[in-house]
Amino acid sequence: MKVSVKVPATSANLGPGFDCMGLAIPLYNTITIEETVLPGTGVEINVLAGEDMESELHLDHIPMDENSIIYRAVELLYNSIGQTPSELKITIQSQIPIARGLGSSASVIVGGLIAANELLGRPADEVALLSIATEVEGHPDNVTPAIVGGLVITSQEDDGSIVYKKLDWPEEWHLTVCVPDYELATDISRSVLPKEVPMHDAVFNAQRMAMFVHAIHTKDDELMKLALKDKLHQPYRMKLVPGLEKIIANLKHEEDVLGTVLSGAGPSILIVSKGNSQDKIKTIVRDTWADLNVKVQIFDTTIEKQGATILTQEDD
Ligand code: HSE
Repeated sequence: MKVSVKVPATSANLGPGFDCMGLAIPLYNTITIEETVLPGTGVEINVLAGEDMESELHLDHIPMDENSIIYRAVELLYNSIGQTPSELKITIQSQIPIARGLGSSASVIVGGLIAANELLGRPADEVALLSIATEVEGHPDNVTPAIVGGLVITSQEDDGSIVYKKLDWPEEWHLTVCVPDYELATDISRSVLPKEVPMHDAVFNAQRMAMFVHAIHTKDDELMKLALKDKLHQPYRMKLVPGLEKIIANLKHEEDVLGTVLSGAGPSILIVSKGNSQDKIKTIVRDTWADLNVKVQIFDTTIEKQGATILTQEDD
């Protein structure tokens, strides 16, 4: 039996929502898991680059054995029903750039889990899948939108369970994703964060999160401009993302720009705008990074409402 699952990329944090907010975007990894019949072959993991991804994919970042995050996720699921995975062939068809803050690791965790869940006859429900995926990823803000789609606020409760709510995004607000040609591993980007933060910074982010939710409900441009700010992670990560500070500064006075934020742990940048300013925004970002000899891929995007989707299921 063989199962394929298509999983969207994600952009987490959105400024103030560090580790608790994320959205799905229409760029996908497809994860296929096949039970192989040859005993003793163990687990085989292959990564295939998408057509335009060959140069983006650095395979040495992905452990291809039992140490990989996808294997860990699959193993946790098997263990939860008292089994261990045996002979499995896992194939990742990758379109999501790796180590760029677009949820590529969350997508393979989620794809592996959902495919394995199908192979096992669906022992895990959505609650269990969210909880295992978060255990492997460490935080729920990428895996939740990868599983359920849309824009979500999400939390992990003390018992490990995940609570999430989907929010509606105003259609008149545009999203532009800027992906620089350098990588930043999430563990490095998290290693620069402090263990504790000043109370006024925590209060600042709590204010922005409240503003964010109200702004999208009321489509309030000016409130959103105040909301898309952060003091919990971006200031510490500036040094790891050359150009970020300058890009934020250069876009700050553009009337139609509602905010410029780090996508997940970076180094990609997400820009929220209104009106017809996207071409101008792209030029500003491209020029700013060009000054630092950084090449960038920029694309306009939307929110993918659909989460992970099972594509094929073949019986032997
Ligand atoms: N919230 C996470 C972070 C997302 O900012 O580190 C990255 O996976």
